[in-house]
Amino acid sequence: MKMQAGLPSLPDDMSEAVDFHGYHEPVLAEASTSLLVTRPGIYVDGTLGGGGHSLLLLRLLRKLDGKSLLVGIDQDSNALEAAGARLEAFRDMSTLVRGNFSTVKEVVTSVSNGLGKGLPVMGVLLDLGVSSFQIDTPGRGFSYLRDGPLDMRMDPDGPVTAADIVNEYDDRSLSRLFLKYGEEPLGGRIARAIVAARSAAPILTTGALAEVVRRACPRKDLAIKTLSRIYQALRIEVNDELGVLERALEEGFSVLSPGGRFAVISYHSLEDRIVKRFFAARAAADWGPKGLALREPLTPAEALPVTKKAVLATEDEIRRNPRSRSARLRIVEKL
Ligand SMILES: C[S@@+](CC[C@H](N)C(=O)[O-])C[C@H]1O[C@@H](n2cnc3c(N)ncnc32)[C@H](O)[C@@H]1O
Repeated sequence: MKMQAGLPSLPDDMSEAVDFHGYHEPVLAEASTSLLVTRPGIYVDGTLGGGGHSLLLLRLLRKLDGKSLLVGIDQDSNALEAAGARLEAFRDMSTLVRGNFSTVKEVVTSVSNGLGKGLPVMGVLLDLGVSSFQIDTPGRGFSYLRDGPLDMRMDPDGPVTAADIVNEYDDRSLSRLFLKYGEEPLGGRIARAIVAARSAAPILTTGALAEVVRRACPRKDLAIKTLSRIYQALRIEVNDELGVLERALEEGFSVLSPGGRFAVISYHSLEDRIVKRFFAARAAADWGPKGLALREPLTPAEALPVTKKAVLATEDEIRRNPRSRSARLRIVEKL
């Protein structure tokens, strides 16, 4: 982990072996959990997944003096099942909810009125994107490496699949999507290839789409990069990932008590930019237009950055868990 000077050293129990049963190894696990937990209260893991981060949070919370409660949220029922089994030993301190993290305020309000009555909300964690389990399950349709239905819904009951988009969006909308969410320079060319291919037969599998994209790539050695950008763009659109992130940042920050911390791990520049801007805006006081020379700001800062820069994975973690290569952890404390 690339840690800034002055960060606390890791508690002893972080070194306890954790078996993640191949579901998903948590990324930046030590930094994201040890920097989040400060004192007893309600902690929200908005992206429960296989419960990897939650397990580490619960271990830290159990050691603290005082009552704490972990609220785990995921929109995928498979994740809730896997995490429920993993967190069995902490049943008395955790409550797991199926839902979208963009409704974190509603979830926390209901917990604060019930099980967590009287407890301050001291932490919110978001570990964005999909889990290894979701990517590795062909039936979920997230990967061009595994043939399966072209689905990509994190919430299996969600209204729109990747197949709907690929077969229904017109050429210009597809092209815009690949450029905006995939930052793919060949977006227009791929969009035209998709429209031509689907006029013969609908594109219904990850394998069929991968074939169309590969054929449209002029440089076969660069096709893998194009494939990942196209698949990323579709996944973001299917799950409205940037829209729900913006809502979750607002709601998550608003439910935190003073002194509570908000940690977000993102995996690509589009998400990271949103998180960075949101946290920077909360950490800046408003001094009005230049030249006003006020004694006090018009609006004081609402947060303090916990680390100066984003925390990145070490070479060692990247070797062990390649998913961590692009991870960036940002964390602020509410004032
Ligand atoms: C990267 S994984 C989290 C892994 C988890 N931190 C662990 O250690 O096992 C992301 C998880 O968040 C869930 N997720 C992503 N976006 C979500 C959203 N908007 N609302 C609820 N869950 C979401 C996904 O279904 C997935 O299970």
